[in-house]
Amino acid sequence: MNRIRIKSASLLVIGLAAVAPLAAVEISLPTETAKLRESPLPGYGMAMGMCATCHSAEYMAYQPPSARTYWQATVTKMQKTFGAPIPDDMIAPLVDYLAKTYGTEKNAAESGKPAASTPSPAAGGTSATPRRN
Ligand code: HEC
Repeated sequence: MNRIRIKSASLLVIGLAAVAPLAAVEISLPTETAKLRESPLPGYGMAMGMCATCHSAEYMAYQPPSARTYWQATVTKMQKTFGAPIPDDMIAPLVDYLAKTYGTEKNAAESGKPAASTPSPAAGGTSATPRRN
């Protein structure tokens, strides 16, 4: 009995050792939609800190381009209904980032002036730094 247990335990270890490198390779090659779209807007760093803890960025990427009101409602729903720990003063910059990056304001943000001209100093954006490549 004991021998069999020891054998299967060591088989398990060998199995894990064989699987680990494969998993590492998969993780190092994320698909485009697994990451949040980069942006100079302050809400980008906030979204990386606030919006990727429960689900991946694919949730944002799979939404059809929607108006600011949709993103406002969605962020509020994440906060109020699903309990996301989003401080109230982050809502506005988050919605701004989502509307301009995933929403109907996408083209306006891309073709027009530099999007970084609309930061709200009160919100800060210190909680997360956009550093994921
Ligand atoms: C506390 C966990 C949590 C956090 C943090 C969170 N979400 Fe969600 N999100 C959920 C849940 C739960 C659902 C709905 C259930 C599902 O479909 O898996 C959801 C669904 C969504 C959807 C799909 C559409 C919908 O309305 O169901 C979008 C878009 C979305 N979240 C965006 C965001 C954004 C943007 C943020 C950051 C501001 C965020 N989420 C942060 C839990 C969270």
